[in-house]
Amino acid sequence: DAIRYLAKKYGIELEETGADPIFDAAEQEKESLYLVNQFASQFFQKQLLETDEGKSVGLSYFKDRGYREDMIQLFQLGFAPTDRTALVKAATAKGYSIELFQRLGLVNKYDQDFFHDRIMFPIHSPNGKIVAFAGRYLQKTANSPKYINSPETEIYNKSKVLFGMYFARNAIRKQNKVYLVEGYTDVITLFQAGIENVVASSGTSLTIEQIRLIRRYTHDVTMLYDGDKAGVKAALRGVDLLLQEDLNVRIVQLPESEDPDSYIRKFGAQAFHDYSAAEEKDFVLFKTGLLLEESGNDPIRKTQMLKDIVSSIALIPDTIKRSVYIKECAQRFGISEKIFVEETQKVIRQQITQKRQGQIQTALDQSQSEKAPESWSEWDKNPDKVVIDDDFQERDVVRVLISMGHLPYDAEAQISVASYMLTELQDHLDQFNNSNYRSLIEHYAQLFEEGNATPEKLVNDADPIFSQMVINFITSPYEYSENWEKKWEIFLQNQLPPAQNQKEEAKQVILRLRLRKIMKLIKENQEILSKSKDLETTEIDRHLKAHQMLVQMRNEVASELSTILL
Ligand code: UTP
Ligand code: MN
Repeated sequence: DAIRYLAKKYGIELEETGADPIFDAAEQEKESLYLVNQFASQFFQKQLLETDEGKSVGLSYFKDRGYREDMIQLFQLGFAPTDRTALVKAATAKGYSIELFQRLGLVNKYDQDFFHDRIMFPIHSPNGKIVAFAGRYLQKTANSPKYINSPETEIYNKSKVLFGMYFARNAIRKQNKVYLVEGYTDVITLFQAGIENVVASSGTSLTIEQIRLIRRYTHDVTMLYDGDKAGVKAALRGVDLLLQEDLNVRIVQLPESEDPDSYIRKFGAQAFHDYSAAEEKDFVLFKTGLLLEESGNDPIRKTQMLKDIVSSIALIPDTIKRSVYIKECAQRFGISEKIFVEETQKVIRQQITQKRQGQIQTALDQSQSEKAPESWSEWDKNPDKVVIDDDFQERDVVRVLISMGHLPYDAEAQISVASYMLTELQDHLDQFNNSNYRSLIEHYAQLFEEGNATPEKLVNDADPIFSQMVINFITSPYEYSENWEKKWEIFLQNQLPPAQNQKEEAKQVILRLRLRKIMKLIKENQEILSKSKDLETTEIDRHLKAHQMLVQMRNEVASELSTILL
């Protein structure tokens, strides 16, 4: 009722198609699954610490590995006994429904325990709920894998979880850095040695969700990998994705056939600190060195290696960072910087072309709704269905700035298009998703201050990376003229064609960008509101007010835009 009252007050349409009971049921079900995992974890811990089998097999194993008791407690390590009815019996005695255990993969369809005769590592969500288990065998048995894991369930999505994140997150924030390792045991050994900012990818390559999870806490990732070939290969696999997501990646390569766990056990925590401090290398430069070493003096192989390293560099979204790498790598390869830049630009252009098709389609789809404020209600109801991608709008702003900035905006006011646009863009620069576009605008602004921002100047004098982007913008067919085609007739009636109509065009690209940014804010705000049960009443109120304001802003911008279009 409170929600209804507020919705009415702030003019928000509420959808009440029975979603609430369903939502509640799903949430309740999840809660009961967490409880079952919690019960199972306590069971495994009890087995480890209080039964003869657990103590003699499981606990002694952990002790042999050098795990302290406080670590065993903290990570809630456990033991699954040989008897395959142990957990089922304990659960039944407590009155639990076995069906839930089956859904979590803890019990199989023959009512037997899934994990048996293994030491148990609970896997926690970032806020500390147990979502799954990993069980490691203690003696190698025929065709049984070393680790078995809970299956994916309603509460466990493998690609979204990093082992150890719950325990590491404060230390990661504090030190603004995370160590990435391969295994469960590496995490625990490092943690015990006082290196608490450590998580494991659990033997698979990193996923985009895991990377975004990391990025909530830090941008600096140091990978700790085995010194052997396989270890390095494994490290190489996940890295392109890390670079692409704008993380700073470093690597510490451990001595031949050591992993972090074995290294610390052999040489101790201090030696590990010293080693990793001395050996930590920037990943791109590390990769360059590795590839150069492999290719020797063979020119054909060297060319292949160059392509390989260029493809990594091209993924880095930050222009400045990219040019630093280009300088450094060109030097190491003994190749002119210019060639390196050209190669990188080639790859970037290929990437853009690949993305372009999809983006044009999205933009076309969206141009419909941009015209008519009436059609918002559909979007309001279901913002998730609309993909909000700003790249198109951001790019268009830069295109108009570069190609028309030097033209007069308005004969009467005697200002240039650039002057108008740079002023209007002040509020939006921080919201730019594409740091290339942002850097280019900032670069342009600097030249503009110096009275030097002509297309010729930009093409010839700028940093080679910028100059290539400028050429692309001036010559690129990628602009909203795809949409113009439909509107062309309208323009022919009483206006100049867009290429000669810089005032309208400048206004329009700015409005489109603003509209898109507002839509995005509305969506983000709604996402927060949809989790309103976690919020204070005053916070809900604040977000509802924000919603109302944003919707008003959106409608104003949209209607201004439509007067230009018509
Ligand atoms: P390791 O074989 O190094 O395992 O695999 P470990 O945990 O370090 O165990 P020790 O040192 O032999 O005692 C590294 C990681 O790869 C994943 C696990 O996450 C493991 O921690 N892995 C390995 C599996 O998921 N399944 C396997 O069968 C093996
Ligand atoms: Mn290991």
